[in-house]
Amino acid sequence: MQGKSMESGKGEHTQLKGNILVVDDNPDNLSVLEQILTADGYKVRTASNGEIALKALKARQPDLIFLDIIMPGMDGFEVCRRLKGDPSTTGIPVLFISALSETKDKLMAFESGGVDYVTKPFAEQEVLARVRTHLGLAAPQRELLRANRELNREIKARKAAEDKYRVISDQCVEKKLEEQLLQAQKMESIGLLAGGVAHDFNNILTAISGYGQILRDNIAADNVLLRECIAQLLKASERAAELTRGLLAFSRKQVINPQPVHIDLLIFNTGKLIQRIIGEDIEFCTEFSDKKLFVQADAGQIELVLMNLAANARDAMPRGGRLSISTNQVMIHKGYEVLHGLAAPGEYALITVSDSGSGIDKESMGRLFEPFYTTKEVGKGTGLGLSIVYGIIKQHNGSVMVCSEAGLGTTFNIYLPLIDRYNADVESEKPPTIAGGTETILVADDELIVGEYLRSLLENAGYRVMVAVDGEEALAMFEEHDDISLVLSDLVMPKMNGVELFTAIRKRKPAMKVIFVSGYSADSIKKMGISEDHVDFIAKPFENSLVLLKIREALDYE
Ligand SMILES: Nc1ncnc2c1ncn2[C@@H]1O[C@H](COP(=O)(O)OP(=O)(O)OP(=O)(O)O)[C@@H](O)[C@H]1O
Ligand SMILES: [Mg+2]
Repeated sequence: MQGKSMESGKGEHTQLKGNILVVDDNPDNLSVLEQILTADGYKVRTASNGEIALKALKARQPDLIFLDIIMPGMDGFEVCRRLKGDPSTTGIPVLFISALSETKDKLMAFESGGVDYVTKPFAEQEVLARVRTHLGLAAPQRELLRANRELNREIKARKAAEDKYRVISDQCVEKKLEEQLLQAQKMESIGLLAGGVAHDFNNILTAISGYGQILRDNIAADNVLLRECIAQLLKASERAAELTRGLLAFSRKQVINPQPVHIDLLIFNTGKLIQRIIGEDIEFCTEFSDKKLFVQADAGQIELVLMNLAANARDAMPRGGRLSISTNQVMIHKGYEVLHGLAAPGEYALITVSDSGSGIDKESMGRLFEPFYTTKEVGKGTGLGLSIVYGIIKQHNGSVMVCSEAGLGTTFNIYLPLIDRYNADVESEKPPTIAGGTETILVADDELIVGEYLRSLLENAGYRVMVAVDGEEALAMFEEHDDISLVLSDLVMPKMNGVELFTAIRKRKPAMKVIFVSGYSADSIKKMGISEDHVDFIAKPFENSLVLLKIREALDYE
């Protein structure tokens, strides 16, 4: 049986409709089916049991299988289950053919994966009709399976490519991270060195310029040579002090005064200065974020940053070009902070300063922010501009990154931590802290408007105030009231002027604190013969906060 079975395809038809494998342990059954199918144009192979059938399938796959149920060894259900469990044979339709006609057997046949069930004895036409139907149905199904396999292969290939790309991009990110860390460490150690030197240097400079000033003030007016020498010495020490300030800024040793700052407004207000720095041949434009961006910053320091960047851009565009400054809000996600040179993820204001200038070559890129790194000719640049930028931005918990290529312009990206707008608004609307007190102050001014204005200013700050319209009235009030702690007096007044009043008061109370208010210069008071302690001077017109501060300082002075 076995010998005959494997090569028993006898169909000599020129146009074969398909390959069919018939599996049955009964040779008569095999032969009947073989004849019917071959006569109808199919190429038929036979197998006398399950094992042979499975082996035969490995060699070549049929388009359809007729499967008997009861066979020695493996039964038909098991054969079918194995076929369906193998992806390479799962698409072949299996028709059960059996003498068993109970429903449970039929159900079992379908459950094991069969598509149809033919009971013996069968009608020839019916069998052929079923074969045609299932072959017809199997074709698109096979196509579907093939497409599915193809799709899976493609998905696998894409996934592999993606994984490969991810590995490469992870390696890139890692390399960038490493570079960033190295750069940060390098800047940190240069910063420490520069900061230490600058600090000591500053002290030395203070002595040089201090003694220089004493010399200047004591050299005879006719000693022209020495006067000139001292002037040059002081000029040089001022220049050295400037460099030291730059180094201190780089090493973040400056005292900064951070306040909530609306960054767009700051850039807008610095615009005129920037335009003046870059000149008329360079076009200057700004583009601001839709949102109001607030940062906690020392406005003066951020202006210094912008001015340094503008100066560099100007030098990079000697024949004109374009400088643009834009602002945006950006979110730095966790894990990306180091890549941006930042200490923490979060919302940042991004200030982008771009020029269309000469660009920066690769070699310079790694050294730009180092103090004294310059490519400019001697006398043109000290190489401190970007160091100052770096120090200031770092001191603001931000970062500055540069993108550039020789010939393609340069872009500096500055990240500053955003602060909550609501808080910022509340903060910025807070009145400035007033230096006030509860002492009694005597104001002497012949200008009624000024006297009354000073009264309301001082009373608002908590003081008790008395106002006199001339020196005589002021002296009378002073004699009458024992509790006056400070006298704020105009210099030029009718009846008794400020200096006369001062002298009379000091006669009665030698330690009484007096502040003069005047349109004259401080020198003029000296000329009027006053050079004693506890005398201060405020020039008109004055700032309210300055008046209050001076009063407080004078009152607190021991
Ligand atoms: N926008 C830019 N385009 C091209 N090169 C630049 C730009 N900004 C900086 N550089 C390069 O970086 C170097 C360092 O700049 P940095 O501002 O620190 O010093 P500097 O401009 O040379 O001198 P200083 O600012 O002290 O006058 C410059 O000499 C220049 O080579
Ligand atoms: Mg510069």
